[in-house]
Amino acid sequence: MKENMMDLISRIDVKQDAPEKEPERQYYFMDLLKNWMAAEKERLGRDLTFNVQTFGCQMNAKDSEKLAGILETIGYVATDSEAADFVIYNTCTVRENANTRVYGRIGYLGNLKKKNPDMKIALCGCMMQEEHVVAKIKESYRFVDVIFGTHNIFKMAELIYDRLTSKKMVVDIWKETDKIVEELPSERKFEFKAGVNIMYGCNNFCSYCIVPYVRGRERSRNPEDIIKEIEGMVANGVVEIMLLGQNVNSYGKTLENPVTFAQLLQMVEKVEGLRRIRFMTPHPKDFSDDVIEVMKNSEKICSHIHLPVQSGSTNLLKIMNRKYTKEDYLNLVDRIKAAMPHASFTTDIIVGFPGETEEDFEDTLDVVRKVGYEAAYTFLYSKRSGTPAATMENQVPEEVAKERFNRLLKVVQESGSKRAMEDEGKVMEVLVEEKNSQDGTLVTGRLSNNLLVHFKGGEELIGQIVNVKLSECKGFYYIGELV
Ligand code: 5AD
Ligand code: SF4
Repeated sequence: MKENMMDLISRIDVKQDAPEKEPERQYYFMDLLKNWMAAEKERLGRDLTFNVQTFGCQMNAKDSEKLAGILETIGYVATDSEAADFVIYNTCTVRENANTRVYGRIGYLGNLKKKNPDMKIALCGCMMQEEHVVAKIKESYRFVDVIFGTHNIFKMAELIYDRLTSKKMVVDIWKETDKIVEELPSERKFEFKAGVNIMYGCNNFCSYCIVPYVRGRERSRNPEDIIKEIEGMVANGVVEIMLLGQNVNSYGKTLENPVTFAQLLQMVEKVEGLRRIRFMTPHPKDFSDDVIEVMKNSEKICSHIHLPVQSGSTNLLKIMNRKYTKEDYLNLVDRIKAAMPHASFTTDIIVGFPGETEEDFEDTLDVVRKVGYEAAYTFLYSKRSGTPAATMENQVPEEVAKERFNRLLKVVQESGSKRAMEDEGKVMEVLVEEKNSQDGTLVTGRLSNNLLVHFKGGEELIGQIVNVKLSECKGFYYIGELV
């Protein structure tokens, strides 16, 4: 992959007009910006810094790596501080409170810009796909330099260039796209693990969810491109990959030569040197037996399945447009457990969806107890305008939802620590991720089931898979010993 990019860069003559074709076009603008950057550095007598702030899900985290890759190619230097020369917020709009927080922080960036008038501020991601958001920023946050959405992040270099030459706010939001632009630089957060997009968008239209409106229709990447990317990563030291998509088990349906998710998993399994495969997020309605079979026979697919249930009530699931019943879900979990007795489950749950009764909520608690989740991401329902649920009658009063939310947390915690206790004393493989932030004599690693283990060890272990005895279970993590 790296070599490919070098080829692209050297082929570009910046005196020519911008090429039409992507990604060549973006390398052209990156080259122009490199020249600008050299002049800026000389003018200021220092490096120019950038800071990427990521809100929301794994897909955004992956997009942010691409943004960082482009900025580093231009010549910016990464910093942890928001007092940087280029700050970009990659936003999320799944729940309302995320939006409110972003507005507050853009205001703060405005103050920083007063101290450094050359500072550039960019906003991108899901929130920017909403018209009312862009309108508000144009009106109340005039100091923002560049705004783009979810479909054109590959275009950031061109948009920065437009901003520099036009000297006014640049806004470029695409309503939809069928384009997948590959082979742009990307700056990975970890050396040894990486996310890989396998598909973009979502066609499910769960009635509470804004994602299909801001991320567009489902589009799958070609399996050859995915495998090539993974092979490149493994050659650079990656041992664990996470296949990413809003609904991974509907992968491949839109390809010219359709491929199933089960088939893709088998292809990924064959990549030599790769040790662990994870995926996120599967939808229970599409979790087929062939995927279970592939998981059962795989040596690399991790025994952790994130399987969002959202609610345990068949009645609510129908109104949520989830297309499975409580029984379907429990049955699926049972089939996975039968094939992989060691499987551990995590989930997403929404509390206080319109019309949720005490009985519906009890069904959710029942599912939590029956599945025995290792952890659950629990959310208070948040009304998203434009979604069918936003205009539903009988919205649940906030106090009722909050009271249920707290009850749910207790049950989730009980279920999580019970599950973790089952493995106390066992020896398991751990991928060492980092030095422990609180105790320098410890390192922290992750089990196949996604739980963390802290144990005595040095930095040289980072990126390695080692055997660790899970000596003491602390509820949601372990204290272990290297064996
Ligand atoms: N309110 C609360 N939670 C939501 N999610 C998606 N939309 C909403 C909403 N409107 C949750 C779902 C999803 C996760 C990523 O966010 O649980 O699985
Ligand atoms: Fe949203 Fe449902 Fe699509 Fe997930 S599957 S992104 S919850 S619409």
